[in-house]
Amino acid sequence: MNEANKQTRNRRAVGYWHFMREFVRNPRQIGAICPSSPFLARRMASLVPAGDGVVVELGPGGGAVTAALLSHGVLARDLVLVERSAALSAHLAKRFPGVRLIQGDAMHLSRFDALQRQPVRAIVSSLPLRSLPRAVVRQILEQVGLVSGPGTVFIQFSYALRGSRQGMAPGFERDQAHLVWRNLPPARIEAFRFRAGSMQ
Ligand SMILES: C[S@@+](CC[C@H](N)C(=O)[O-])C[C@H]1O[C@@H](n2cnc3c(N)ncnc32)[C@H](O)[C@@H]1O
Repeated sequence: MNEANKQTRNRRAVGYWHFMREFVRNPRQIGAICPSSPFLARRMASLVPAGDGVVVELGPGGGAVTAALLSHGVLARDLVLVERSAALSAHLAKRFPGVRLIQGDAMHLSRFDALQRQPVRAIVSSLPLRSLPRAVVRQILEQVGLVSGPGTVFIQFSYALRGSRQGMAPGFERDQAHLVWRNLPPARIEAFRFRAGSMQ
């Protein structure tokens, strides 16, 4: 194994360790028994359109999707990570030193300067919308609508293999859905697009 592959493997292992420790501390906030697999992470990243504007990642956790977004071609300077856990944020800051990181709550997205200065191209969410309290989910989805503009794509995965309207932010219409079997457990990705004329 060459040096670069060894480093990637080590970084993944460290991310995995931080993720599991946070899961034991706060399972509802983490909402998953394992970090996202590289297959799930790559599929989510592949739905981010090319173009201008920032790409916001909500709940990056150990960084599996962050790594896939960068490999997909999202520039580090265009990426903004929003992670609530202090321990996972410290890990992300070390793993992705060139990427903007907000240690904060997705319930307050519209207050973050980084999301007010530039249009938002895509919002890629690993937030556990099915295990967070309903009022929290409602507020997060409202905030997603507030920072979005025409064409913004909202990408969310869940472990519900059937589609549902949960996870759809106001102003968005369903664009596409994909099942990813090679993840523990298998996951469904839904992508939504902000309708022109939905500006709030
Ligand atoms: C399913 S895990 C992340 C999975 C991630 N793709 C990985 O592979 O590590 C969900 C993440 O969302 C974060 N989170 C939960 N609620 C949040 C909130 N309100 N704002 C920001 N992050 C939140 C958790 O701390 C956790 O890191």
